[in-house]
Amino acid sequence: MGQPVEVLIIGTGMYVCGRGTDGYGTILPSVMQAYRDGLVSRIVVAGTRESSIKFLNNQVEALRQQLGIDVEVEGYPKSGNDPEAYRKALTQLGPRSCVIVAVPDHLHGPIAREMLEANQPVMLVKPFTPTVKEGQELCQLARAKNLYGVVEFHKRWDLANRKLQEVIEQKRLGIPLYALVEFSQRKRVPQEIFGSWVEQTNVFQYLGVHYVDLLAHIFKAIPQRAMAVGQSAYLNGCGKHTQDSIQAIVEWAIPGSVTPFVSIFLVNWVDPNSSSAMSYQAIKVIGTKGRYESDQKCRGQQLVTDDYGIEDINPYFTQSYSYGTEGRKEYLGYGIESIRTFLDDVWRLLEKTVTLEELEKSRPTFQQALISTAVTEAVGQSLECGGNWIPIKNVSEAMA
Ligand SMILES: NC(=O)c1ccc[n+]([C@@H]2O[C@H](COP(=O)([O-])OP(=O)(O)OC[C@H]3O[C@@H](n4cnc5c(N)ncnc54)[C@H](O)[C@@H]3O)[C@@H](O)[C@H]2O)c1
Repeated sequence: MGQPVEVLIIGTGMYVCGRGTDGYGTILPSVMQAYRDGLVSRIVVAGTRESSIKFLNNQVEALRQQLGIDVEVEGYPKSGNDPEAYRKALTQLGPRSCVIVAVPDHLHGPIAREMLEANQPVMLVKPFTPTVKEGQELCQLARAKNLYGVVEFHKRWDLANRKLQEVIEQKRLGIPLYALVEFSQRKRVPQEIFGSWVEQTNVFQYLGVHYVDLLAHIFKAIPQRAMAVGQSAYLNGCGKHTQDSIQAIVEWAIPGSVTPFVSIFLVNWVDPNSSSAMSYQAIKVIGTKGRYESDQKCRGQQLVTDDYGIEDINPYFTQSYSYGTEGRKEYLGYGIESIRTFLDDVWRLLEKTVTLEELEKSRPTFQQALISTAVTEAVGQSLECGGNWIPIKNVSEAMA
């Protein structure tokens, strides 16, 4: 095995280290585990406040115990508040390094751009960018610099979705006709966890985008037009100016198909905080010869306790499991796997055992992610004009 890689994580929130939850997030456990396995040599994390680095350090300490490793995680800013601490953190990296960007949606484009300009391979959490224009700029920059850029669309790694992919590839459903996606989360996500930036995104861009990418990936489909309507009956009253729920229809062209394919998305982020899981998620796909139904909330594991009530556990996302004999844990699931895949890819690119062209075929690269941005942008435009159909033009050209 060649030299391991250094990793800079930008962001110290829920997805990085579990802020606002009982857990430890997804990015930090995955990267620390990669350190345990010898793939990563150094971990640097940038937030904006000293207090967020203190929280991060507590999470790191707990994970060190769980994983049985003695890793130093360097946090920035070292003191005080500094929204540009990530720039100082960047200067700490050596030549074999990469960056994972996990900041609020509206900062994805500018921060990812800076990282590419600094010649870093980048993994950006979803959504890619709010506009196609910004997304195209990132694609062009990555291409000009011959750098790897991917979006962390982890649903591609969910075994339930990989099985759907196989079923579609085998044409077992016949001609694809339509899909129905439902995805929602507890109201404390927009109210508390994303409270400071929730008005800069919408629930379709936050949740719906996952399944937009998944459908584009599985069906090799190109979106043609989109329309959407939404409701505001709860969050506005709490002082959060964003819609509670959105219903969107997207019409796609599937190469070789005789009919357009239509997907319907029903998303909200006002589920009760007492819901038995953070996410309610389900997908159905209907074709001329069959249907595929996947309940991605109730996976069959239910835990009922005096302390927490009823919990529906998703054993396939990010979960800890007992490991070995010394009270150790390991983290498994499609969240962990998608981040680990990026680190593996960066290492293989450095070792020259894989090429960017090969990865382009199978990973959620910036290029591929432009499709999801074209759809979320069109949905946003439709919401603004009261639900009109918005044509999605020239996605293929934008990707070329
Ligand atoms: N929570 C999830 O399950 C999840 C899953 C996948 C992707 N995402 C995406 O990840 C992103 C972050 O989500 P989150 O859940 O961690 O949100 P969060 O609100 O908990 O955290 C956002 C983090 O960004 C940091 N940040 C803001 N500006 C920064 C800057 N200039 N430099 C460094 N850090 C900065 C904040 O300090 C905070 O730690 C969002 O785009 C979200 O859509 C979240």
